Amino acid sequence: MTKNIAVIEHPLVAHYLTILRDKQTPSSEFKQNIDRLSYILASIFYSTLKTEKVSVATPLKITTGEKVAHSVILLPILRAGLGLTRGFIDLFPNIRISHIGLYRDEESLKPIKYYFKFPPIKDKKDAKIIILDPMIATGGSVIFTLEYMLNMGFKDISVISLLAAPEGLKAIENRFNIKERKNFHLYTCSIDEKLNEKGYIVPGLGDAGDRIFGTL
Ligand code: PRP
Ligand code: URA
Repeated sequence: MTKNIAVIEHPLVAHYLTILRDKQTPSSEFKQNIDRLSYILASIFYSTLKTEKVSVATPLKITTGEKVAHSVILLPILRAGLGLTRGFIDLFPNIRISHIGLYRDEESLKPIKYYFKFPPIKDKKDAKIIILDPMIATGGSVIFTLEYMLNMGFKDISVISLLAAPEGLKAIENRFNIKERKNFHLYTCSIDEKLNEKGYIVPGLGDAGDRIFGTL
């Protein structure tokens, strides 16, 4: 594994993830716990942001404060990526939100795009893109989205996930030669054992989108 790929070690992450893995966890609790995880992941990610000095007038005097220096764009992969958005939006309300809709073809497991909406961005060089996809299985959905963002001219891209299969991580590494990339980071809460014959992560947590939206 390269250092661009980080496995987040945090007692609460492990705790909430175990609740998500449990097949007895109902959709209502699943949503609640994925929300909690989203706040922790957001605060870990946001600790990497750079700030710039600004002047601020307190009620007593003018002093120097700091402001986030990046334009940050959140890009959840529909549907399941929506489940990870709350913490990112609540902790940084200036974030801009775009969406990409992908579903996996059940036979080929290849991603099919059905939606894309992106805000107009003036300075792509300084923008940070955060791709949210709770499950990296074959890696196809993340690879598709990364290619899309690189083709649009973005350079600083992070992927945030809950679970990743070794097969998916390998595919991402092979496709993007990420050891050589400065501004690429992938955070996951666990690298699981493997993919099964249907492309599900094992042990995994099942179908994230279905469990978030109660479409089982
Ligand atoms: C799931 C999941 C990921 C994708 C991962 O989406 O939410 O986006 O599969 O698989 P991959 O790494 O093999 O591409 P799904 O197609 O089930 O759509 P959904 O989020 O609408 O349920
Ligand atoms: N998508 C999911 O939601 N779960 C998996 O295990 C694989 C892909």
